[in-house]
Order: sequence, then structure tokens, then C-alpha cells
Amino acid sequence: MVEPPRLLNQALGRADTRSPTAIKRRGSRRRAEPCKEHSPGTAACPPAAEMVPTTSLLLLLSLALLAPGLSVDQCKLTGNWTNDLGSNMTIGNLSSKGEFTGTYHTAVTSTTQQIKLSPLTGIQHNNTQPIFGFTVNWTFTDSSTVFTGQCFVDKDGKEVLKTMWLLRSDAKSIKDDWNATRVGTNVFTRLPNKME
Ligand code: BTN
Repeated sequence: MVEPPRLLNQALGRADTRSPTAIKRRGSRRRAEPCKEHSPGTAACPPAAEMVPTTSLLLLLSLALLAPGLSVDQCKLTGNWTNDLGSNMTIGNLSSKGEFTGTYHTAVTSTTQQIKLSPLTGIQHNNTQPIFGFTVNWTFTDSSTVFTGQCFVDKDGKEVLKTMWLLRSDAKSIKDDWNATRVGTNVFTRLPNKME
């Protein structure tokens, strides 16, 4: 005699060995009772979805947060940075509102003055790839530069500050105001922390 095809019992993921007629008569087998007798977690009694430990979910969440590009400290601007002109800046601790102060050492100047370390002050948003702004008040000349930009974490997990700046120089009179502001871009990358 030709055997009728066995049906797949989807709840258990195993083939039901009863004939289709038997299944129709008695319905699908219950699994709650046998699992009381066997140890739970065995092949016969796999753990129910609601029994998956919370710790496993927490572990998965922490792994996701530690994946490249998502480290919690990245794009907090505190630390040492260098740009494409070779200028260096150091940013101190952030306040609870994201405010910071620091120092800037420019590699270039539009003046004939000797370059000196100058103070900066700024503020950043508190999100994963934050926008920020800061002003450098040059100490060796009467000019100021405002920078605005955004911190990105690139495909290699490296932080990059993409900025634009306006450098305002001193105009001797209102007639000279028209060419007193330069504009440009700088890209900053993080320098490793100095040994303490
Ligand atoms: C001046 O020359 O008036 C003061 C120094 C300005 C340096 C500028 S600011 C924008 C650009 N980025 C730098 O790192 N340095 C120059």
C-alpha cells in the first residue's frame, strides 16, 4: 500500500508521523504536558520564546553599541585635533550643556606677526555625529575666526571634523570692510592623547 504523505507540524518543526485522517480526527498533538515530564530546554522541549534570558538581549545590545562607529565617547570634542594645514587645537572638558574652551595653535597666518597660542570657546550638540561651533580669538593680532562644522565617524571608525570658517581681520575704516573677511574649510582628525 502507498503511504499518504506525512504533514509537517509547524509548531514543533518536526514531521507529524500520524496520517492526515488521524490528525483531522484528533487535532494536533499538545506539547505542554510532555514538557512537564521532560527536562525543559532539551530537543523534546525547546525553551519557549518568553523564556529567552534577558541577559542574552542585553549582551546583544551591548555588542551592537560597541560595533565600529558607535563608541559612546566618539565625537565628544574633548582632546587634541590637527587639521589639513597642520594647525593644532586642544579642547577641554564639555559642560553638561556641551560648552567647551580650549586652545588653538595655527600653522599659518595672514599677518606678519609671530604666531602664538590662542584661546577658543565653543559649544556642541549632544548626539552621535554632532554639529558644533567655536571662535578663536587670536592673541597675536586683532582678528577672530569662527568655525562651524560636524563631527563624523568614517567607514574605518575614525572621527573627522568637517568645518567651514570665517576669518575676520581688522579693517582700518568702513571703506575697507568689503575685503576684511576670508572664508575657507578645514578638516580635523584626532591626535592621540599625550602621555601624562
Ligand atoms: C590671522 O592670520 O589673522 C590669524 C590666524 C588665522 C589662521 C587661520 S583661521 C582659518 C585657517 N585655519 C587654520 O588652522 N588657520 C587659518
